[in-house]
Amino acid sequence: MHSVNAKTVLEAIHQVEQIFIKSDIYCGHGTDNTWDEAVFLVLGACNYPLTSGGEVAEIEIDLLQRERIEAWVKRRTVDREPLPYISGKAWFGGLEFLCDRRALVPRSPLAEIIQQRFEPWHTGPVESVLDLCCGGGSLGLLTAIGIEEAHVALADIDGDALALAYENALLLGLSERIELIKSDVLTGVPQQRFDVVLCNPPYVDGEDMSVLPPEYRHEPGIALASGADGLDFTRALLVQLPAFLHDHATVFLELGNSWAHFDALFQDYPLTWLEFAQGGWGVCALSKHDIEELARIAAQRGIISAHE
Ligand SMILES: C[S@@+](CC[C@H](N)C(=O)[O-])C[C@H]1O[C@@H](n2cnc3c(N)ncnc32)[C@H](O)[C@@H]1O
Repeated sequence: MHSVNAKTVLEAIHQVEQIFIKSDIYCGHGTDNTWDEAVFLVLGACNYPLTSGGEVAEIEIDLLQRERIEAWVKRRTVDREPLPYISGKAWFGGLEFLCDRRALVPRSPLAEIIQQRFEPWHTGPVESVLDLCCGGGSLGLLTAIGIEEAHVALADIDGDALALAYENALLLGLSERIELIKSDVLTGVPQQRFDVVLCNPPYVDGEDMSVLPPEYRHEPGIALASGADGLDFTRALLVQLPAFLHDHATVFLELGNSWAHFDALFQDYPLTWLEFAQGGWGVCALSKHDIEELARIAAQRGIISAHE
């Protein structure tokens, strides 16, 4: 079922795509279709850069490459592992990251906002940035690469994820320019004020968690689930965040499908939901004033306690 008898790279890609089409894999970890998934699998298994183009199409594959393609196809279609966990690499925001089960596979639409230097939503200074819930570090490291004057702090509750973020920082030559912090929400972050906060927290609600495709079960549960409405982390964040923001700060908060729960909680309050040219949804841009107002409204309505 997983045998690949192709002679060239291009033939292998076509064969692997056919196997993918006949299986019921879910593409949601860096690709959204079986062709791209097959291209990344074959290039990765043959040890060609993921940016390779037509120049590798007619290269013959050798026995070792063929065996690796077959083994990876089995892991992808039978074990339903996300491809970046199999290859150990994720392509995100134009950069290659190390990727394994210690952290979520990077896929946040926030990459697009970072590449725009946070404009037009944030036009003030970008000297201090916090990537809260950094996982393997993709968002904070992308920021440090793109915005040289930025000091970037990356925080996460999970020491394994932080270890991966450190390895990615080393790989990208950024280990001297960033700070890694172990923190439950903001409780471990030394008191300071940030210009920009990026937050891609766990936000999957109970209903979505119960129907997740098998690929997502390979990712750390702590990176996905956040209570019945997906907002447990976010409620705690609203209370803690104002003390860490400059007056001109902008917070980019990603809530995925749970954006609708958040919008419903604060239905009278005008929230700015961003649109993305490269796909994605559920991200809002918030000022410090917005965060303070949301925390006040939430406390008033008993949605959160002042100490949460
Ligand atoms: C959606 S993932 C973020 C992935 C990251 N943006 C990336 O590209 O790798 C959410 C992250 O939040 C972290 N997390 C969960 N609960 C937390 C908490 N209470 N405080 C801080 N981080 C938390 C998880 O460990 C996980 O790494």
